[in-house]
Amino acid sequence: MKGKIKKITVNSTGTIRKVLQAIDRGGLGVALLVEPGSKKFIGLITDGDVRRALLKGLGLATSAGRIDHPETITATVDMDMDEISAMFSEPIRVVPVLDSDRRVVNLAIFDTRVYFPVAEPKLGDAELRYVSECVLTGWVSSAGKFVTRFEEQFAEFCGTKYGISSSSGTTALHLSLLALGIGSGDEVVVPSFTFISTANAVTFTGAKPVFVDSEPNTWNIDPLEIKKAVTAKTKAIIPVHVYGHPANMDPILDISREYNLAVVEDAAEAHGALYKGRKVGSFGDMGMFSFYGNKIITTGEGGMIVTDNEGLAEKMRVLRDHGMDPKRRYWHSVLGYNYRMTNIQAALGVAQMKRIDQIIEQKRINATLYSKGLQNIPGITLPPEAVWAQNIYWLYSILIDEKEFGMSSEELGEQLKERGIETRPLFPPVHQQPIYNTGQSLPVCEKLSRCGLSLPSSVNLNGDEIERITNEIGNIQ
Ligand SMILES: Cc1ncc(COP(=O)(O)O)c(C=O)c1O
Repeated sequence: MKGKIKKITVNSTGTIRKVLQAIDRGGLGVALLVEPGSKKFIGLITDGDVRRALLKGLGLATSAGRIDHPETITATVDMDMDEISAMFSEPIRVVPVLDSDRRVVNLAIFDTRVYFPVAEPKLGDAELRYVSECVLTGWVSSAGKFVTRFEEQFAEFCGTKYGISSSSGTTALHLSLLALGIGSGDEVVVPSFTFISTANAVTFTGAKPVFVDSEPNTWNIDPLEIKKAVTAKTKAIIPVHVYGHPANMDPILDISREYNLAVVEDAAEAHGALYKGRKVGSFGDMGMFSFYGNKIITTGEGGMIVTDNEGLAEKMRVLRDHGMDPKRRYWHSVLGYNYRMTNIQAALGVAQMKRIDQIIEQKRINATLYSKGLQNIPGITLPPEAVWAQNIYWLYSILIDEKEFGMSSEELGEQLKERGIETRPLFPPVHQQPIYNTGQSLPVCEKLSRCGLSLPSSVNLNGDEIERITNEIGNIQ
């Protein structure tokens, strides 16, 4: 704690800039103002106090002693925990503990995080402003400026020409298969280790999903298995970049060329992941994304298809809009759907695009911290990252070897739950789901599902919290 106190302490003769730096360093939203020399405590400065001082016209070079701040609630070393706990309230989350000379010797910090969720969206002022704009202007439905703006921004992010938004990732997948003309009598090769939507979208068209196993080193669809699954009826392959790790696209694209198959990348969980330095979603005929609340960025519910193919883009725009002829209102020559994204959803999307790079960076930083904390615990396999890949660790997921670790992934999940740490099992293989139940034996994905556990993966987690989670895992063992 001494180090922390030092980090956030500023002499009253220091500048407001120094206070801001201290607030930033400490990560607690506050700095401690002390008298130079004696180090006697003067007061606690919050980031709000600094903001108000700057708005009043004080400059960054002004002396920190001139920042107005309310009288600070402090504790003394002789107080017990109950007395100190009673001092916390909604705005008061840090209470300095003073010795008899009024020097800060400890900090009581209200730990807001007694529960760590697996995922939570990162939303802020921009999201609120843009959504409010929709409400205030009345543009709440699927017409409105945010829809095209989001489509253009997201396509540019992926390095593709066109972005076609939709009401969800699942409807995006459905649209992509419809645009390819896939239907009854056709087969589409999909990994069994994925969320159910990948297969369901194929089934919606009347075609048959054909399930194949994963590679143990990437957890993604195994190109060798795809080749074995291709028949005269196969029309497309849907590689899924599962949990944020890219599928091995080169051999998949080779197979697609050899057998003349379309490729739709399911990148629902992998916004910004890189395969050989290039963003996923830009390799196949189309790439599809989800913006559900637990994804890298969110629009509440929502999806997007990106493509360089103008013809496919146009078809999907028509299909998502009741099949209406773009040149003739209420004229329908194809069976279409109402799969449009609303302006409110897109407003969230445009705001989220401001943060997407930062979210991805934070995901990768958090993954490194997790791996550091877990790497020496016997019986734990860390998530993969192939040499050609940049994983974005949508959900940081590990495998538990029951014998070596001493308990199953399910038991570990239960133990962590008791400690306020939420986990999720990895996807049960789709070929074993009651609606498909093909009777196949696909050992890799069955093992991933049996042994896998996703840990809290919110970008709101800080290093101390990740350390707390990895320590708990080590202690439970
Ligand atoms: C791999 C995969 N594909 C498709 C989807 C479907 O996306 P949505 O939930 O937006 O319909 C998801 C979402 O959870 C997913 O994880």
